[in-house]
Amino acid sequence: MASAGRAGQALSPGTQRLFFALWPEDGVRAALAHTARRMHGVFHGSRTRDQSLHLTLVFLGDVDVEHLSLLLDPPDDICVPAFELALDEWGGWSRNKIGWAAPSQVPQPLRELVANLEAWLRTAEFAIERRAFLPHVTLVRKAQATRMPEPMKPITWMVRDFHLIHSQAGPGGSRYEAIGSWPLRA
Ligand code: 2AM
Repeated sequence: MASAGRAGQALSPGTQRLFFALWPEDGVRAALAHTARRMHGVFHGSRTRDQSLHLTLVFLGDVDVEHLSLLLDPPDDICVPAFELALDEWGGWSRNKIGWAAPSQVPQPLRELVANLEAWLRTAEFAIERRAFLPHVTLVRKAQATRMPEPMKPITWMVRDFHLIHSQAGPGGSRYEAIGSWPLRA
């Protein structure tokens, strides 16, 4: 069985911390970065680096590198049509001190993409969490507040692809690199 995800550092040099994610193109990234700066001014804590902004689809945790080739070859029927994602809500969770931007309505293709990925990964015996999918982009960590004083200026994200991301712990926080990318259906 593939190694299970768990919090903390990579288990050994033979593992990589991985997750599937939506990765914004430059325009959406700039809008998210602007939103993160505004939130940081209210919530304080530490702001997500502009180049690290993303939306996690499925978190795998520390995976044995021998399973990488499988993860880099997702079945074709995982793909859903490209879709529009409106990020129009912002706030914070007190339990983990995360400040986020999120969609008030989760598009059906996004739900399907996550369900398809999870079904494939479970069949392949990856130990992924069963907790409900709550799509969000983390803008701030160690937030000291949970409510913004005004509504979020909505960001429209045309989602055309998804990615497998390698997360590496670094001095100023995790660094992310896409090691696989797949287009959604036109
Ligand atoms: P977060 O931003 O809400 O913390 C890389 O760590 C990405 O995977 C982040 O988007 C993070 O979500 C998410 N992540 C980290 N640990 C996770 C876990 N145990 N379950 C689900 N997602 C996780």
